[in-house]
Amino acid sequence: MSVLKGKRILLGVTAGIAAYKTAWLVRLLVKAEAEVRVVMTPSAKEFVTPLTLSTLSKNEVYSSFTDEEDENARWNNHVELGLWADYLLIAPATANTLAKMANGVCDNLLLAVYLSAKCPVLYAPAMDLDMYKHPSTNATFEKLESFGNIQIPAGHGELASGLVGQGRMAEPEEILNFLEKYIADGLPLRGKKVLITAGPTYEAIDPVRFVGNHSSGLMGYKIAERAADLGAEVTLISGPSHLQLQHALVKIVRVISAQEMLEAVQAHYASAHIGVFAAAVADYRPVAPAKEKIKKTGDTLEIQLEKTQDILGWAGNQKKEQFLVGFALETQNELANAKKKLEKKNLDLIILNSLRDEGAGFKSKTNKVTFIDKNGTILPFELKDKAAVAADILDYIIAQQ
Ligand code: CTP
Repeated sequence: MSVLKGKRILLGVTAGIAAYKTAWLVRLLVKAEAEVRVVMTPSAKEFVTPLTLSTLSKNEVYSSFTDEEDENARWNNHVELGLWADYLLIAPATANTLAKMANGVCDNLLLAVYLSAKCPVLYAPAMDLDMYKHPSTNATFEKLESFGNIQIPAGHGELASGLVGQGRMAEPEEILNFLEKYIADGLPLRGKKVLITAGPTYEAIDPVRFVGNHSSGLMGYKIAERAADLGAEVTLISGPSHLQLQHALVKIVRVISAQEMLEAVQAHYASAHIGVFAAAVADYRPVAPAKEKIKKTGDTLEIQLEKTQDILGWAGNQKKEQFLVGFALETQNELANAKKKLEKKNLDLIILNSLRDEGAGFKSKTNKVTFIDKNGTILPFELKDKAAVAADILDYIIAQQ
């Protein structure tokens, strides 16, 4: 999944021959699941038609302050467009438009949008090699850099004039990669490794039976997905769960028993910056699982259980720089019990869910949680779906980094 998913990209197209490539650029942005709107300078329409770009972007294309062909002309609100965008991308950006941007000239809709946009502005210059090298163009680039605008460098190659040199607009794929990298670099968990446990564990009684619980794994999977969306490199150690998660930044390690989960955590913990232990680990396991299927010979059957190792407790013990988060599922004396667990397991944060709250707990799609941190601060939340709870947890962690 691309970091562009759900992002609002306002593409400004100016009058350079490379404008024909914006059809492909819009297609790539839409494929990456970005929301795309296009603003063109009036002369850009000579190079690529608004119909092409509106069809590909699935949105109306704007090029003037009012819709000239419509008698009931509507005002194309440049402020609203500028504020709508998460990113303003101007490609191709001609020498003319760039010089106007650098000097606050505002004689078309795109320039008005540029002046009113509050979001990051990226631009892909496109011009002939001598124009590109001209001191005036250089001065323009420097001025735009001082405004915080970001240049997507022009490539080297054959230009529309037939000359060979630097000045051709970066290819649509390069623009897309540049934009994705720019967004990814700005994500709050970029460079952080997050270790997450999720799901139940199954403890074998014999080759076909086990001691387990009803955990779906959903809470841990949602935390993993959100952490990855925020730029973290995630290792998700999952007990048996039917859930899937496809994300370039998530590595899933599938385990069955508490012992396997412990070993997987031990292999990944030292390099983690953040640990979130959401698994519902079996507290006990059969002492001696039968090698063969147990036959129903007697009227009763006794299975002796022994304690599994507390994985989170181990992690708390080994903690160095990690920010460590655990869960507590309680039915009585909730706050007091959760605080005890926080201290005993050396956590930074414990997330309490009470089985007394309707819609909370490990079988449900929603959760109602209370955060308790190591300073004793108590933060109760409303009932929310688990994706929203995951967002709250990660926002809290990010604020502590
Ligand atoms: N946990 C763990 N390994 C275990 C048991 C629990 O990592 N063997 C983690 C869980 O993932 C969770 C937290 O510890 O983050 C829960 O703590 P626990 O003491 O097991 O609380 P409860 O499950 O609520 O159990 P109890 O109240 O019965 O002690």
